[in-house]
Amino acid sequence: MIVIRPINDAEAPAFLALLCRIFNLDPARAESIFYSEPFFDLDRKWALFEAGRIRSILTTVPLVFGDGPAYGIAGVGTDLDHQGRGFGERLLRAVLNHGRDSGEERALLFAHRPELYERCGFEVLDHVIRAPLVPSNTDNNAPLLPFEDVSTCYEQWANRSVHRLQRPPRRWQFWKWNLRICSEVAGGYVCQEGDTVRECIFDVPLDAWPVYPGAEWFGLRCMAEEMQLPVGEAKEELIYMGYGFSSPPRMFMTDQF
Ligand SMILES: CC(C)(COP(=O)(O)OP(=O)(O)OC[C@H]1O[C@@H](n2cnc3c(N)ncnc32)[C@H](O)[C@@H]1OP(=O)(O)O)[C@@H](O)C(=O)NCCC(=O)NCCS
Repeated sequence: MIVIRPINDAEAPAFLALLCRIFNLDPARAESIFYSEPFFDLDRKWALFEAGRIRSILTTVPLVFGDGPAYGIAGVGTDLDHQGRGFGERLLRAVLNHGRDSGEERALLFAHRPELYERCGFEVLDHVIRAPLVPSNTDNNAPLLPFEDVSTCYEQWANRSVHRLQRPPRRWQFWKWNLRICSEVAGGYVCQEGDTVRECIFDVPLDAWPVYPGAEWFGLRCMAEEMQLPVGEAKEELIYMGYGFSSPPRMFMTDQF
């Protein structure tokens, strides 16, 4: 018998063990992240059970845009011995139906391949690209911007369009959970994690980028274009897919689920 539902407390270890097997994760490291990440919520960890055994899994994450709620879908996986039996599709369809019944009608995900998701009604909205940033004039001495100023700046940016991701307190908690360094630039900031820029906000194209040579943009192509980022040759790394969206809602990969 097939049952599809969110897991309960006692089922979390089996869910985590399957997640590690499918995605080849180190169980000890994955366990510490799994239970402590700010969006941890058993009601959003879905599983397909066959005869009481978990075969397929996925996790949803709440999202809020100016024009209403949505959710992200991550970690879609089926036990290696049971792939190709239609379980992934059944699980996804059940989660989409549940979303429609509970007022979360729109979904987003980042995929390597589109087939399964297209069959369930998702459409390709854009791509996540990785591209070298070619700074016109490197300014590595830009001062760091305190968190309060970063959040004010982000919220002003998000409020300028209903298609931009809002950050309620829990999302900010998630944002702060990772080590991010934000350098002040005219009218905003550039946020770096190591050599990667996943978030930046400014009023006019920058003359000086507070990044070292070798820094890369990792984000939506549409956002790189809108902000006129000085990106070099881009590699498409992920497909940005939406269910119930007609155009790509804007979000930074700092909010990746
Ligand atoms: C993707 C995955 C969840 C599909 O689960 P499943 O239970 O086998 O799905 P279904 O039986 O309903 O559908 C199988 C179809 O999904 C599609 N598919 C296979 N891998 C896919 C992938 N990585 N992304 C999207 N679609 C995929 C194919 O069309 C496949 O049909 P085929 O076997 O005839 O080629 C499973 O292959 C898996 O766990 N892969 C490893 C983890 C992964 O890559 N997850 C997705 C990225 S987050």
